[in-house]
Amino acid sequence: MATTSPSQQLLEKIVSLAKRRGFIFQSSEIYGGLNGCWDYGPLGVEMLRNLKEAWWRAMISRGDIEGLDASILMHPRVWEASGHVQNFSDPMVDCRECKSRYRVDHLFSEMSEKRLKAISKAANLESALSHTLVMESKDLTKEQLAEVLTSMVEKSSTLFAELVAKELIACPNCGRVGMLTEPRNFNLMFETYIGPVKDAANAVYLRPETAQGIFVNFMNVWQSARQKIPFGICQIGKSFRNEINTKNFLFRTREFEQMEMQFFCKRGMDEHLFESWRETRWNWWLALGMPEHKLRFHPHEKLAHYAKAAGDIEFEFPFGFGEIEGIHNRTDFDLTRHQEFSGKSMQVLDDETKEKYTPYVIETAAGASRGFMAFLCNGYKEETVNGEQRTVLRLHPFLAPIKVAVLPLVNKDGMPELAQSLERDLRKTMRSFYDDSGAVGRRYRRMDEIGTPFAVTIDSDTLHDQTVTIRERDSMQQVRIAMGQVKSYIAERITL
Ligand code: GAP
Repeated sequence: MATTSPSQQLLEKIVSLAKRRGFIFQSSEIYGGLNGCWDYGPLGVEMLRNLKEAWWRAMISRGDIEGLDASILMHPRVWEASGHVQNFSDPMVDCRECKSRYRVDHLFSEMSEKRLKAISKAANLESALSHTLVMESKDLTKEQLAEVLTSMVEKSSTLFAELVAKELIACPNCGRVGMLTEPRNFNLMFETYIGPVKDAANAVYLRPETAQGIFVNFMNVWQSARQKIPFGICQIGKSFRNEINTKNFLFRTREFEQMEMQFFCKRGMDEHLFESWRETRWNWWLALGMPEHKLRFHPHEKLAHYAKAAGDIEFEFPFGFGEIEGIHNRTDFDLTRHQEFSGKSMQVLDDETKEKYTPYVIETAAGASRGFMAFLCNGYKEETVNGEQRTVLRLHPFLAPIKVAVLPLVNKDGMPELAQSLERDLRKTMRSFYDDSGAVGRRYRRMDEIGTPFAVTIDSDTLHDQTVTIRERDSMQQVRIAMGQVKSYIAERITL
């Protein structure tokens, strides 16, 4: 009988809570679902909005970053200029036996160190390294070995087939060796058509990243907002990638939301700005409640076609560390390419030297959907309190979908009416919830499970002294305050 690992069980519990309590539903569920697409339910949409709001405020409140909302469909030349038509593809292989499909980098990254070493030997990695790096394969970590092997396979048209023929690579699904096909490049962009005629002349793509909307609008924003370089442009929006393997809930989906910022600077400032943005973004995740030990920074050995330096902020998901945000030094690659392809100048004037130059770009590219999942996973806790089990979602109060629950202790003596009137008042400025069904302990548990940071209880004392108790989700401590102070008490504690 197949057993599931504790980390899989944990992920299953999180997915199940997300569905049961209205955070995330499978897309088109009544038709069997659509792979790689998910819907945000009433609580999910609130939490996602809070996450995006936290990011937007952090960007815009600096004063040197402007916002943008570019369209998802763009001129097809954009994607030629950006390199996506040519380069935005993953090498993939199929199993001839069970028909499973894999990305080559995933095959390597999921192998054991022992297997990677055996493959490195067969692939003559040592000699490849001597040409490129001042490193030996024994100095490489498991992740680095997987990355180097992937890039060797990408560069050689025969290497993968040779490794398969030597029976060194098995299909992870059916376990058969020697059955994987040669790698083929698969472009991840979704294609559609503008207008009624479905031919190549009318083909357009759903954007695979929000960044290009920012690059093509660089001049418009610079001229209209009257910012001086260095300055940034930020955008939140949907992106689409026809991922080969979608898995792990919201981690890798075909439709997802990104929060991207491009910071335009003069060449020479780029290396310093790369470091400072890396730190700024790291601290942003911490400020929203990510514990430092669950994050790590992973510098890229293998750089994307546009990057001079790049690295990922990774979060420890139940299945292991995975990227939640990329920080990239994109140099002047994108602006230069758009200048070439469009014939429009992307150059600015240096006020001091009076010379024209094309700005360099430091990019911070975070996933809103992936970040959402990271906060769900980080917050999910099962605890035993006074002999009773509780599930609690320890979300930062700013992210919590509902900020406060208002509960009458019993359903009589005017308590429900008083509680309803307080909840109606709170609802004007924060998401609140009235609940009078079941024992108060159970009502607290229901709120804990969805991450509500505060619960206000109206009891018999409230009726004569107008005071209430406020229970805090994590400590479960209660304080008694005047009913008139509830709004300000909570408002002060749910800000960033
Ligand atoms: N403009 C650069 C760029 O798009 P990326 O590393 O490909 O960089 C940035 O993507 C972020 O977008 C990732 O860190 C991740 O959080 C999110 N992301 C990328 N692909 C995703 C997918 N298929 N599903 C969910 N989130 C994804």
